[in-house]
Amino acid sequence: MHLTKITDLSKKEILEIFDIAKDLNFQHLNTGQNQEHFKNKSIAMIFEKPSLRTKVAFEVAATQLGGNAIYLSSPEILTSGSNIQGRESISDIAKNLENFADIILARVFSHKTIQELAENSQIPVINGLCDLHHPTQTLADLYTIWDLHSGFPKDLKVTFIGDGCNTANSLMLGCDIFGIKFSISTPKGYEISEKITQLAKHKFQSTNNPKKAVKNTDIIYTDTWISMGLEDEFKKRLKIFKPYQVNSELLSHAKHSAKIMHCLPAHRGEEITAEVIDSPASIVFKQSKARLLIAKALLKFLT
Ligand code: CP
Ligand code: NVA
Repeated sequence: MHLTKITDLSKKEILEIFDIAKDLNFQHLNTGQNQEHFKNKSIAMIFEKPSLRTKVAFEVAATQLGGNAIYLSSPEILTSGSNIQGRESISDIAKNLENFADIILARVFSHKTIQELAENSQIPVINGLCDLHHPTQTLADLYTIWDLHSGFPKDLKVTFIGDGCNTANSLMLGCDIFGIKFSISTPKGYEISEKITQLAKHKFQSTNNPKKAVKNTDIIYTDTWISMGLEDEFKKRLKIFKPYQVNSELLSHAKHSAKIMHCLPAHRGEEITAEVIDSPASIVFKQSKARLLIAKALLKFLT
């Protein structure tokens, strides 16, 4: 199976992945190593955009499970060459990689590229982020909350503040799978798109008023206002998103116990203040740690 978006997985499958992640974490903490579930296997990782967490998490995951990771930067395989499509077509890349590797991970600009890889590959394709989705991030986010509470508390509310981007889309859809109450506050015109909303089974609150969105919330989540590829809009976005900063004033409208989440990389002073992200309420580095646990769990689950 492929993981092109979070809705490719059922609730049961996600909980199975969480159990694997928890067991592998326990095993590693206790013995300093993991059983070699990915022994003699390889993950081919295509990156059209930069990455710290996704790249390192999957590379370390493959190594710790006895396999290896091959990093393929976009200029190496996609963009160079005289062919109008780049060096070769996406479908040919998929059909070659399945001869050599056991999993493909791809971080790309367009979701279409992920779909094309998946349609042409006999081995699982994992979406490592595209314009619309970031499913491995959502698995780590939900795992972090699930692990913190030993399950999902009834009436849990998750609120996203900022841009209705890939991270927000996947988080909303992940919450939807579990029936978790989800709320989002964005500037007008930056809401989660209709195309993504259609994939959800439950209704969620979408408002341009961030204070209204964080009312009674357990989690406040934010992400950059300028996703990779939108750098030209930097000045414009900084102005539009200013009222959507996650700061202590906004926090005072949430539950006293509310936790702060961010997929990272963070931009202190833009979408979040240093005071908030570095506060005891912040669980951003737990999320980051969960990226490795989920990467390991996915390698085991998908092969
Ligand atoms: N959160 C996340 O995906 O981080 P990277 O962009 O560094 O991989
Ligand atoms: N929305 C961000 C996520 C980075 C992990 C981006 O696409 O750049």
